[in-house]
Amino acid sequence: MANRISFTRYLVEQQHEHGHIPAQLRLLLEVVARACKQISMAVNKGALGGVLGSADSENVQGEVQKKLDIIANEVLIEANEWGGHLAAMASEEMDSIYLVPNRYPKGEFLLLFDPLDGSSNIDVNVSIGTIFSVLKKPDGDRGVEEGDFLQAGRQQVAAGYCVYGPQTTLVLTVGDGVAMFTLDREQGSFVLTQDNVQIPADTKEFAINMSNMRHWDEPVKRYIGECLEGKDGPRGKDFNMRWIASMVADVHRIMTRGGVFMYPWDKREPNKPGKLRLMYEANPMAWLVEQAGGAATNGQQRILDIAPSKLHERVSVFLGSKNEVDRVTSYHEKL
Ligand code: AHG
Ligand code: MN
Ligand code: MN
Repeated sequence: MANRISFTRYLVEQQHEHGHIPAQLRLLLEVVARACKQISMAVNKGALGGVLGSADSENVQGEVQKKLDIIANEVLIEANEWGGHLAAMASEEMDSIYLVPNRYPKGEFLLLFDPLDGSSNIDVNVSIGTIFSVLKKPDGDRGVEEGDFLQAGRQQVAAGYCVYGPQTTLVLTVGDGVAMFTLDREQGSFVLTQDNVQIPADTKEFAINMSNMRHWDEPVKRYIGECLEGKDGPRGKDFNMRWIASMVADVHRIMTRGGVFMYPWDKREPNKPGKLRLMYEANPMAWLVEQAGGAATNGQQRILDIAPSKLHERVSVFLGSKNEVDRVTSYHEKL
């Protein structure tokens, strides 16, 4: 195919023509893309590669780890620790931050990731993914501490995800809109397949785990209740529902054709603000969605404005088509 723009060329152009990314960040993103390729290969092997099933261990959040959670985490660490572009990493699968070992050069960026999102879908051959967020290390010569990671999402310098589905697609923002790259397996490289991704402001599709309905708060019950009333209700139109149970795949659908995704706080665990993690799930997705013209809130405020207080902090999430996110957020204001 003529005029194919590879991931590398896209980044070089972002670096030289648009001035969005320094060379070290370009290297970082290349390395993350390479790690995602490797994870994609492991995912594709499935039972043949012995990668399915549980690892018989738990992460810091008390969730049972799957073999692929651990494999993907190791792939991302090994790929990123030696290149000199990072100071430290943080992951859903590690209790505390991972400092680049002393034997390697250090860089000025911090990388956070959910190495394998949608773990419950691994063994049933449904789309899963990797989510990542890049922050700049605060200035100063001292070593990196966990507190250095606790920056609001609006301070991200790059964010993205890779979805391992019928195609492997990498979706990226460096603050200049959203671009999608499809993995060409013969060439072994990601190729730009959509630039300037835009989420339509209106939608007739929502994504929420309906089995939790009885535990929701009133504003969520009201919003979904009105959607379910369809043409005869206050919304005057029928809605459709999708729930893949991999945030990455649900968000990718919204990036592609619009929709609203919700994982709200609920009464099952009232002391937790939500299920999803702020730093490496909600923040990168919120920035991508905003960069594509959508919106992302926790019901009260823009997710990107939340000042984090701990690495594995959880958050309520409402994101996607702007008018729907604005509506469900406004229902919270009227409480
Ligand atoms: P992870 O596999 O990284 O722990 O994340 C799973 C998350 C998210 O991807 C998905 O939207 C949600 O959990 C599904 O939760 P339910 O099983 O409660 O529907
Ligand atoms: Mn996840
Ligand atoms: Mn995960």
